[in-house]
Amino acid sequence: MVEVSTSILTMEKGEETKTIFALETAKTDYFHIDVMDGKFVEKNTYKKMLENSSYIKRISNLPLDVHLMVEDVKNAVDDFLAVEPNIITFHYEACKDKKEVLDMIKYIKENNCKVGLAIKPKTKLDDIYEFLPYIHMCLVMTVEPGKGGQKLIPETVDKVRNLKKYIEDNNIEIDIEVDGGINLATVDTVKQAGANILVSGTAILMAKDYKVIIDELKK
Ligand code: DX5
Ligand code: ZN
Repeated sequence: MVEVSTSILTMEKGEETKTIFALETAKTDYFHIDVMDGKFVEKNTYKKMLENSSYIKRISNLPLDVHLMVEDVKNAVDDFLAVEPNIITFHYEACKDKKEVLDMIKYIKENNCKVGLAIKPKTKLDDIYEFLPYIHMCLVMTVEPGKGGQKLIPETVDKVRNLKKYIEDNNIEIDIEVDGGINLATVDTVKQAGANILVSGTAILMAKDYKVIIDELKK
């Protein structure tokens, strides 16, 4: 059974309450919080995502799936721990070395939060295999991080397939999340490849009826 994590990156200003309640009714499993610092990626959504996260915490019990696209991982982890997310995922490419990756994994877990590691489309799986036993989820970016509404990069599907094979061959129990360009046209490919958590923003938020799309994605 796959789960859906709706990215609220493109949520209309002023429509937050309506959108959040509608997504709850449509049974999204998570709210995907895209945190961008204007350095790791061009856009800066940091303050807006912190505000949206604390607002969601006040009006919804659904879990937050925080995706940090930031250079200063530790500082962002400290800021977003305050909204008690279900999971915090940071980018492998934001860390200067393996030690920092391991330190961040440990730090997030020590703060009673699940931890995910995200990789950009060009990053090789070989670079992160050693961390998989210590994390709860691997976020395979299916677009270049930085904005919503992009097209899925086909080569990333093989990465999902290879990652799925690796975790099965090595008895590693982690979730595989895909993020970027996930819609009714691409969902079957990524599910067959082995993704079990689907991030979708545009495809859901553009729909008249969120539930129709979310049900389709989960099928
Ligand atoms: C991109 C973000 C994604 C994006 C997904 O940097 O990490 O979560 O918002 O949006 P869509 O589904 O529109 O590609
Ligand atoms: Zn994301």
